[in-house]
Amino acid sequence: MELKVITGDITTLEVGAIIVNLFEGVKQPGGATGAVDAALDGAITGLIEDGEVTGKRSEMTLIHTLGKMSTPRVVVAGLGKQEGFSADRIRQVMGEAGRFIRKLGVRRAATIAHGAGIGGIEPSTSGQAMAEGTLLGLYTFRRYRSKQEDDPEHEVEELQIVERDSAKTALIKQGVDRGRVLAEATIFARDMSNEPANVMNPTEMAERARQVAKETGMEFEVLDRPQMAELGMGALLAVAAGSDQPPKLIVLRYNGDPDNEENNIALCGKGITFDSGGISIKPAAGMGEMKGDMSGGAAVIGAMSAIAQLKPKINIMALVPATENLSGGSATRPGDVVRAMTGKSIEIENTDAEGRLVLADAIGYARKHGRRRLVDVATLTGAAVVALGRITSAVMGNDQPLIDRVLKAGEAAGERMWQLPLFEEYKELNRSKVADVKNTGGRDAGAITGAQFISEFAEEVPWAHVDIAGTARTSKNSGYLVTGSTGVGVRTLVCLVEDLAVSPE
Ligand code: BES
Ligand code: MN
Ligand code: ZN
Repeated sequence: MELKVITGDITTLEVGAIIVNLFEGVKQPGGATGAVDAALDGAITGLIEDGEVTGKRSEMTLIHTLGKMSTPRVVVAGLGKQEGFSADRIRQVMGEAGRFIRKLGVRRAATIAHGAGIGGIEPSTSGQAMAEGTLLGLYTFRRYRSKQEDDPEHEVEELQIVERDSAKTALIKQGVDRGRVLAEATIFARDMSNEPANVMNPTEMAERARQVAKETGMEFEVLDRPQMAELGMGALLAVAAGSDQPPKLIVLRYNGDPDNEENNIALCGKGITFDSGGISIKPAAGMGEMKGDMSGGAAVIGAMSAIAQLKPKINIMALVPATENLSGGSATRPGDVVRAMTGKSIEIENTDAEGRLVLADAIGYARKHGRRRLVDVATLTGAAVVALGRITSAVMGNDQPLIDRVLKAGEAAGERMWQLPLFEEYKELNRSKVADVKNTGGRDAGAITGAQFISEFAEEVPWAHVDIAGTARTSKNSGYLVTGSTGVGVRTLVCLVEDLAVSPE
């Protein structure tokens, strides 16, 4: 889809629809909405008086212009209350507005940079959010569906963002370009996670990463089973043991600060392409959702594709331990003891706690390669869903400054995050009678004991962990999220490494 930013007067454009906006409670709209209202002889103010148009968040009102304007339709999009207005509200409104006009069959539309006027948002920030919201809200995954009755007739082909003040146009354009990069990286991650597990196996994940590396000039490497064995990755291999699919440790390297090797970070993403639970098998209901258990890995690869284009001054190693968790004849059994790459022995009490096992060895590898900071993203625990629902990702770690950076990046990206504690008193829950540590911590504090286990492998290296079990998928369209995979984590990771690149300490 094409996104154009132009200087001009929105009321005179010949497009399928013009989208204007309204804050909740405003009775006399100004700016572009006021100009369109005047062109329509007060139709919008009339609807406001009648109470039909309220400006409530994501309210969409269609007005036919019946020859009064060169566009046949005006859509009034509610921005919600002006207080608390944010870039994320712009994304949400554009997601909803995009789907609204698509349903109407509109191919070309025009709108303004929401919030860049009385909303008080920077023009570039608005432009970025406009692009992200529109592209992400219009996302679909229809590869395996023949045309259905309720499918829209056409895709939206073009959106013009029209600005009257030529001084702002270039800034909005900059934001739109950045927003497109971030949205496309998020869509890349969504596409990976939406694929069924018979397609998106570890080999296919590695191929997609290879493709990204090839297109962007990043270094790519993939370790296979014998190489993992050579390195002593007993934890990752224990998960892979139950599947005939060959496991892959996917490695991408971006060197944005080659003269300063110490300025580095590792991003690790859980890449379980299907999680049956293994011998500790999951119940049948909803098990298909576990095709999305590689969403952390997809987020990391997606983030790298954006990073390679945005070029922050920092060296990044991306690691995706990719494998299935199945229960084949060679599968790991509850009670088995294995040794991770760092040398720690692990009692596997429950084979369904597999994400932390594969991450343990990814982190071992990152440490071997001198990474000074570690961040992992994983659909790790059902307990994170219980704690924070499907709105907010859980953040934990062993280094408050790094955790704070992750939380800040989440806020900049519009991805809700909340920290849970990793107090040392929780440690005993993961204590094993037969090994250095066990991979479960009982029913209590499940998100925390999952993170706690990973911390045993990060040890003294600053590390933060984002549990996206609740946020990686959604069951309904809302704002810029579309049923299926959300691509959560991509934009937070990009914002994080950009922030670290600008101020390393
Ligand atoms: N992939 C699951 C966690 C999950 C649950 C992700 C729901 C998305 C939605 C993870 O591998 C898992 O099975 N965790 C177990 C851990 C337990 C056995 C300690 C869980 O949360 O039940
Ligand atoms: Mn599991
Ligand atoms: Zn899992």
